[in-house]
Amino acid sequence: MHAHIVHAHPDPSSYNGALTQGARQSLLDIGYSTTVNDLYRTGFDPVERATHYRDRADAEAFAALREQRHAWENGTLPSEVKAEIEHLKRANLVILQFPLWWHGPPAILKGWMDRVFVNGGLYTSRKRYDTGHFRGTRAIVSVTTGAPERAFGLGSRGGDFQTMLWPIQYSLHYMGFSVLPPFISFGVQGHGYRYEDDASLHKRLERNLSAWRSYLGALDAAEPIPFPSWGDWDDDGRAIAAPDR
Ligand SMILES: Cc1cc2nc3c(=O)[nH]c(=O)nc-3n(C[C@H](O)[C@H](O)[C@H](O)COP(=O)(O)O)c2cc1C
Repeated sequence: MHAHIVHAHPDPSSYNGALTQGARQSLLDIGYSTTVNDLYRTGFDPVERATHYRDRADAEAFAALREQRHAWENGTLPSEVKAEIEHLKRANLVILQFPLWWHGPPAILKGWMDRVFVNGGLYTSRKRYDTGHFRGTRAIVSVTTGAPERAFGLGSRGGDFQTMLWPIQYSLHYMGFSVLPPFISFGVQGHGYRYEDDASLHKRLERNLSAWRSYLGALDAAEPIPFPSWGDWDDDGRAIAAPDR
């Protein structure tokens, strides 16, 4: 079994760094091999643009979907994208580790999705959702917040996690991944607003790290998040039955 961790935090010594290292160790302990792509360390360029493509389908106008498909078909994808796809293909489990920045993932991770989920190769009109390329591969979003747990929920100050994680988790589902429940580390308040004293913060974050390691140690108990799929839509893509929420 192999796990690939995509780490989207600028400082490896941060709490996000500790979660990535904790995940790696827990997975090694239960017999996984692991790879980590620390996007800041490797200098991943998250901006999809013409200069990434040396052999263009159209040298005049840049259409990302067309150039991705062309590069896939001709074996001319950028080397960092090719390498990442190889890691993803090898993985039975993919973890996205990031801090919540403006109610979503940092730009570097959004751009990783823009560039690595290659049109015409990793997804096509027929190869998506439950017929997606990565069906059978599990994915987990592990996210840290500055605000405390009590501040989150529909209408609450921090926002609603189902809404904030929907774009990233639904995109994973689009690519065919089985998305397991997210692991949310609340109230990581090192340098932002403070809601508790140092001792209690430290203790809580240590406990949280253990909870993350326990989650990964018992992955078989985790049920994927239910998302709608082809059988739930009519020919126009409309929901046949009204969703629960
Ligand atoms: C640009 C930026 C935006 C942020 N936006 C949010 C936010 O929307 N909600 C929140 O709870 N915390 C927010 N934070 C706080 C971070 O989530 C928090 O600092 C991080 O999770 C702590 O983990 P770390 O110590 O590993 O960096 C933001 C921080 C930055 C730098």
